[in-house]
Amino acid sequence: MTATVPPGGRVNARRLAQLLGTWRRRGSRHGATDLAAGIRLLVLDGRLPAGTGLPPERELAAALAVSRTMVAAAWERLRVDGLVVSRRGAGSWTAVPRGASFGGALDERETPPRVIDLARAVPSSIPGVAAAAEAVLPRLAAELTGHGYHERGVLELRERIAERYTERGLPTSPDEVLVTNGAHHGFAMALRLLVGPGERVLIEQPTYPNAIEAVRAAHAIPVPVAMSDGGWDLEGVEATLRQSAPRLAYLIVDFQNPTGFRLDEAGRARLGAALRRARTPVVIDETQVELDFEDGPAPPPLGAFAGDLVIATGSAGKSYWGGLRIGWVRASAELVNRLVAARRGLDLGSPVFEQLVVAELLAGPRDALVERRTRLAAHRDTLADAVRAECPDWSFRLPPGGLSLWCRLPAPVSSRIAAVAQNFGVRVVPGSFFAPHGGLERWLRLPYTEAPDTLREAARRLALAAVSVAESRAPMSEDGHIPVT
Ligand SMILES: Cc1ncc(COP(=O)(O)O)c(C=O)c1O
Repeated sequence: MTATVPPGGRVNARRLAQLLGTWRRRGSRHGATDLAAGIRLLVLDGRLPAGTGLPPERELAAALAVSRTMVAAAWERLRVDGLVVSRRGAGSWTAVPRGASFGGALDERETPPRVIDLARAVPSSIPGVAAAAEAVLPRLAAELTGHGYHERGVLELRERIAERYTERGLPTSPDEVLVTNGAHHGFAMALRLLVGPGERVLIEQPTYPNAIEAVRAAHAIPVPVAMSDGGWDLEGVEATLRQSAPRLAYLIVDFQNPTGFRLDEAGRARLGAALRRARTPVVIDETQVELDFEDGPAPPPLGAFAGDLVIATGSAGKSYWGGLRIGWVRASAELVNRLVAARRGLDLGSPVFEQLVVAELLAGPRDALVERRTRLAAHRDTLADAVRAECPDWSFRLPPGGLSLWCRLPAPVSSRIAAVAQNFGVRVVPGSFFAPHGGLERWLRLPYTEAPDTLREAARRLALAAVSVAESRAPMSEDGHIPVT
């Protein structure tokens, strides 16, 4: 850590005391240890993001009604662990030490091989990517004679993407497609164009953590609608559209991340009607739409039910390889034009070579994709069996596609399991990451993108972590705090 000032915002003493809740174990004589553990948990489950400036010791001591010495001792412990950094004159701030983070979805770190990384739900490349890269080299030569700036994307790729939508039941022309640097980029562009500071964005809860970050980065307010045990609470979505008048909605209707649900055709018709009544545009994240394990026909894209209100974001990331960083937006030609204009303030197009590679992959035989689906479905079953055997009191619904099991825990200990699991060599993201205001402590997302043996070993290590958590402390309350009783 070389920074000399806190890189993020600040938390004041009163708010930190609130976040800590009942941090002190009942009857404990180790106040400094308990305080350090409380702060550690807040950092590791993301409620105190890395880089947050901490209040002066004196003020925190007053807010917690403890001695300043105790706070100083807790700070010292956290400094030793690398969770707090202090600089004379600049104060102290939180940090996530190398190798101790499970924020895999949120930052880029190397994972030591002895650590199993279940923090990311991202598979490695399909075998055909290198071959596709070689196959397009002659076409690249032709491109090199031009300027290489394609602000909407290379035509050949837009044609392939449009064909795929048409095949799925939504007739699409290339001018209804904009190529982006990944689906997430497409969502960020839509936010930039359509949502102003302080405006609301309807999201599912749980949802993809980086989508929550993007809404926040747009200075907008995420308005969550909770998923139910059976999928979408469409009545809740309808009521929120009416009552909160969100400027935009963001939904993942195909193998929702993290729950794995897919909205059926009747649900799409009802959702489409509600969006049309409220005239609310919606970003439909289709990054996992191709990861379908079922044989039957897939429901049509939401655009077939809500027309021009739908801005679909798609990606080569989950079907082929995330490292290509190629995604797309499918929207009305008019909206695509506006996105192109808005894009100029952000970037000037996506890399040509990677676009040609994705065009080649989309045009080629689907064998590799079929193989990917079959393999992922087998991994899903391996992980499901391993979790049933190792953690018999965890429950989950077998998802019909996508990349992860969304596990319900018998107690609200998700953050604690995620923190302790690191000591057992597994990185997982706790349930709280999937909600804008934390909570979801009874839930844990387990991706099945690793190899079967690794998944079995991960389940074994998670079971050890769960036992360690159960033995070490009373369970947390639903909001993640340690109850006094
Ligand atoms: C639901 C969802 N949306 C978007 C993304 C990001 O997609 P891309 O890599 O194309 O930006 C991911 C990747 O994990 C995801 O799971």
